[in-house]
Amino acid sequence: MRRAICPGSFDPCTNGHLDVFSRAAEMADEVIVAVLINKTKSSLFTVAERIEMLQEVVAPLPNVKIDSFHGLLVDYCRERQAQVIVKGLRAVSDFDYELQMAQMNYRLSRLETVFISTNPLYGYLSSSLVKEIATYGGDVAGLVPDLVLERLLEKISGTIRA
Ligand code: PNS
Repeated sequence: MRRAICPGSFDPCTNGHLDVFSRAAEMADEVIVAVLINKTKSSLFTVAERIEMLQEVVAPLPNVKIDSFHGLLVDYCRERQAQVIVKGLRAVSDFDYELQMAQMNYRLSRLETVFISTNPLYGYLSSSLVKEIATYGGDVAGLVPDLVLERLLEKISGTIRA
């Protein structure tokens, strides 16, 4: 079985991520979307909230599963017996860092990384921009799944009230 891992923070998941998951699901028998547990990085959504949203969003993709991990990605891939890492590549600005990680992961564990060229519709999209725009009242409908939009607006109104 060819198992692929799509790792990331997904804080929150965008339509760009979803596009990558569904295209990875065409290439692999099983895709695991793995949320990094990073206690040093502040996030808007908890890991549990991100996992719950991802589970609902990928429900129509039967071979896509959601999980979380901490530590090195290569160790997690070995644990899950995954042969490949799949990442989306939006623009040249992503390339240096992604190439560095891909080369390091290959050096550490002979693990291949496959890059999916982001759908141009989502080339400018990032979780950080979505959060920033939503925080200042901008419209992010169509950039994130409807469920994520709902949770994002709830979270932001809760944060502002708190
Ligand atoms: O969505 P992000 O934050 O860009 O995802 C980055 C991620 C999770 C892919 C990367 O930070 C990662 O793999 N972290 C796990 C720790 C690790 O293996 N670091 C060495 C990478 S060469």
